[in-house]
Amino acid sequence: MTKIIGIETSCDETAIAIIDDKGNILSNLVISQIDIHKEFGGVVPEIAARNHAIIIDKLIKKSLNEANLDFKDLDAIAVTAGPGLIGGVIVGVMAAKMLASIYNKPIIAVNHLEAHALTIRLTCAIKFPYLLLLVSGGHCQILLTKGVGNYQKLGETIDDALGEAFDKVAQMLGLEYPGGPKIEKLAQNGNENKYKLPKPLEKSKNHRYDFSFSGLKTAVRREIEKITEENYNHNIHQKLSETEKSNIAASFQKVVADNIINRIQNILKDYDLNTKNLVIAGGVAANQYLFSKISNFMKNHDIKTSAPAINLCTDNGAMIAWAGMERLKLGLIDNLDFKPKARWQLALNE
Ligand code: KG4
Ligand code: ZN
Repeated sequence: MTKIIGIETSCDETAIAIIDDKGNILSNLVISQIDIHKEFGGVVPEIAARNHAIIIDKLIKKSLNEANLDFKDLDAIAVTAGPGLIGGVIVGVMAAKMLASIYNKPIIAVNHLEAHALTIRLTCAIKFPYLLLLVSGGHCQILLTKGVGNYQKLGETIDDALGEAFDKVAQMLGLEYPGGPKIEKLAQNGNENKYKLPKPLEKSKNHRYDFSFSGLKTAVRREIEKITEENYNHNIHQKLSETEKSNIAASFQKVVADNIINRIQNILKDYDLNTKNLVIAGGVAANQYLFSKISNFMKNHDIKTSAPAINLCTDNGAMIAWAGMERLKLGLIDNLDFKPKARWQLALNE
């Protein structure tokens, strides 16, 4: 059986996993640096890289122990080669290249976004082509996934990524980074029709499939100013009651869900996609409210919606190992001299 180790260091998680070609996850370790970056309100690239470097060797060893394997038992090494914070990406790539040259194993340079896009196939038998809503802290795109390395971009954000918008709204409500899961929890007790927020780009003829969250974020800020009758400041959330916070979170989430559905509706109107599947991937795919609203809508179009298990939605090593497995099966291995990349587009039409 083919076994691959996946190494992920592109943001603030050091993540190592070992999987086999049947989709068994033999080990899946994620060390988050959230507590280290919390006081800065976001990820500090240099600090992230240093902390990846401190623990990566130990984590690889631990992963092998957990899977009860020796490095020489592995068939290949998959590593995130971008896009991401370059210092962190370099740490992962250096570790992977060193191990590949010592043990003489094939290496696969994985695009982090492709890993999110393909993760669903680790646990579900979904065939190409499928529509993909890729929503993470750094990205927000709708693509048609035609095959490994073959993506057609249909729409994307023209400003903030969706995870970023969740994190910023959370910050306004006094919630710590990463705010997405906290907004989701808060929204459960809220009235989603309480505040009327703008529906981004829904009147734009040129951006029928695109996203924009910057104006929505400003609208939330104005709403907070209206409620508190105060100019925006970093402590303004202290003037909001728990009910008001929940209502804001719920109203924000509702507009986001409706807006995503509107974008997909436009795509379905304008394209003949020839697919029965929508996959939601990336950290925001962990959001159960968004998932259920979108999947209910898709049912009317006879399209099934899927998302990876929550621990496979947010950054992890198994998704990198699986993207490596898909590539290895097609003979797509890399030379040892590939370069780590801060930017790396997924679709050729970008
Ligand atoms: O994919 P990911 O782990 O890292 C990147 O590659 O960016 O995504 C992290 C993002 C963060 O912005 C986080 O707030 C968001 O995903 N997120 C969520 C939820 N869980 C994570 N957003 C909304 N609802 C959630 N349940
Ligand atoms: Zn990610």
